[in-house]
Formats: sequence, structure tokens, C-alpha cells
Amino acid sequence: MMAEADLVPSGQDAHLELEEDDHPITLTVKFTPASHTSVWSFPADATLDELITRCDELWPDYDWNQAKLMISPLSRQTDPPALKALLKPISDGDLPITLLDNKTIKLLAQKRTDIASLNTVAAAAAAKRAAKARHRAVHKTNVTAQQDAKYTFHTLRPLPYLPQPERSLAFLQRLKEDPGIRGVMRKHKYSVGLLTEMDPAAYTAESHEGTTRILGLNRNKGEVIELRLRTDAGDGYRDYNTIRKTLCHELAHNVHGPHDRDFWDLCHLIEREVAAGSGGRTVGEVSNGPVGEDEDEVADHGAWVGGEYVLGGGAGPSGSATPMDRREIMARAAEARMRETERASREARERSQRDAQGRSSRPPRQGGGHGASQ
Ligand code: NI
Repeated sequence: MMAEADLVPSGQDAHLELEEDDHPITLTVKFTPASHTSVWSFPADATLDELITRCDELWPDYDWNQAKLMISPLSRQTDPPALKALLKPISDGDLPITLLDNKTIKLLAQKRTDIASLNTVAAAAAAKRAAKARHRAVHKTNVTAQQDAKYTFHTLRPLPYLPQPERSLAFLQRLKEDPGIRGVMRKHKYSVGLLTEMDPAAYTAESHEGTTRILGLNRNKGEVIELRLRTDAGDGYRDYNTIRKTLCHELAHNVHGPHDRDFWDLCHLIEREVAAGSGGRTVGEVSNGPVGEDEDEVADHGAWVGGEYVLGGGAGPSGSATPMDRREIMARAAEARMRETERASREARERSQRDAQGRSSRPPRQGGGHGASQ
């Protein structure tokens, strides 16, 4: 230990009045914000808490609970392990001040007002981040709405001559708005002109082996998809999951005609995507076999049906079936597509304006006007 006379600069004579056997502890305290550098002395039984208390008295504007004390010089040979280069009032308050004898203590502390304003800045930054995230979410919703309008079934039509066509229309609507189906339509960019129901009396073949029912048809790579919604008698409806699985099958025919390896790979991919997109509700077991519950039910004959399409053709018992040729279907589909795209863009613009005006606390609408998702 150095002699006291060497330690204490001139003017710091207060402790010199102490009795020699009191062995006061002296240390150099530096606090840059207050341009302070001087030697402080403490009784030998003092702890770090007393130093902090003195700091608090001298500079009450600073937060000494959160302060840090940098100790130098440190020697591995002579200093005990308890003495660290960085001390904190919260954890090291009980440290005997004797350990700091002859050391230099550099104090690091923040003004309380600085901390308060830092909190304000942090809160402002958080609000900004939240606003950005909200904006991104609205933008994403807009993009989804536009894609929903483009990649969808542009016309839904039940068979008009069967009982309660509005029930069939609701069924087709449910398929169109199924979140899993919508996701697949967007991802694969499928645009189907007409989704309609198949006459249960048609595509049902009687043979000596029994009855074969075709559950779905895809005409000309997605111009028209027909689904068998009703039971044979025409008054009941088949299971939704079975019909949706048939729709997966028919959508795969948008790309591949024959039931080859490529077709089944795509079909199974679509089935998985629909299941995942519908919150885990399964489409049914993935298999290469028939999609119906009855083994004589087949999705279709594995090829596109081309040529003229007559709504209810060949089966309309009332004879009131309306002929609808391909050109008309395509024209209607194009018209519907344009109308829906325009509406989606308009809604997206309106939403963006509302967002810009800061009235976006309301959750953004889903689905671009196709109605509530399930
Ligand atoms: Ni098929």
C-alpha cells in the first residue's frame, strides 16, 4: 500500500485529520457527465452502498440503481476474485469498500429524464413498427383479394330444373369459398369459367355388374367443371368432403388430361394443400382409386370432354335446358373476371385510403367481397 501522502492530492486534506489508525479507504472517483474527478475517502468498514448513496446525494438527477462502476487497475495477483472490473449497485452493494482502496472508479449512469425520454422514443418506435405491420397485413389482404378475384370459379350455376336449385348454388358457393380451395386456386393460378352441378341421372351407367357413377367432369382444361352434388333421387346431397375431393381431382385435370403419373402427383398435391388450407380438415385418404364412397363411383374417365357444352344437355327431363356454347361460356367468364378484378382493385384502393387516413383500427376485411370465409 502506498503512503497516504502519495495518494492524496493537495486540497484533499479532510481525511488527513483522521487518526492514523483509522486507515481510511481512498479511491479516485470519475464521473464524466459532471466533469468530476476527485479522491473520496471512506471508513474501513464501509460498503459499496455508501459510495452509491454519496453519488445519489451529489447527482440526484441520475439513476444510480442502474449505474455501472468500472474499476481499475485490477491485478490478478493481489486483488481478490470478488473484485470485478464492472460492479453494479444492485448486485454488488455489499462489497467491502476496502477492496477498492487505491482504485479508480469510473461511474456510468444515465439521467432519469434521459431514461424517460428513451422510453418515449422506444414507445414511438414500437408504434411505428406496429403501424408498418398493419400496413403490410392490409397490403397482403389486398393482394389476396385481387388474386381471389382472378383465380376462382367465375360463374356458379345449379341445374335449374331440379328441386331447390338455390341449395345447389349454396353448395357450389361453399366450395368456391372454401379456404383450402381458394388457396389452391391462387397458388396454381386456376381460373375456371363455370362450376356447375352434374345431373345425377346423367353419367350413371347401368350394367350387369351394377351402377357406375361419374362424380365429376372437366371440360377443356377448366372451362367448365361439373360436380355430382345430389344423390341419385336428386333430392338429397352427397357428402361435402367427397365432393370437394372430386373437385381436387377435376382441378388437376386443368393441367393433365390422362390419369398418368403427372396427373396423380398433382391431384395428391392439391388434396394435401386443400386439407392444409382448410385448417387440417382432411379431404379424404389419398389413393389412386375411386374417390367416392362406393367403389363403383369414379371421378371421371380421365380425359377432357371437349366440344359443345349444353347446360343440362342430354338429361333435362323438362326439356328446358338452355344451350350454352363454349364461346358464350368463355365470354361470360371473361366478363365476370373483369368485373371481379375491377371490384377487387376498387376495394383495395378504398382500403388503402382508409388505412392512410389512420382509421385502420378496424380489422381488414377478408376475401375481397366474396363473403365471409369459413
Ligand atoms: Ni379424372
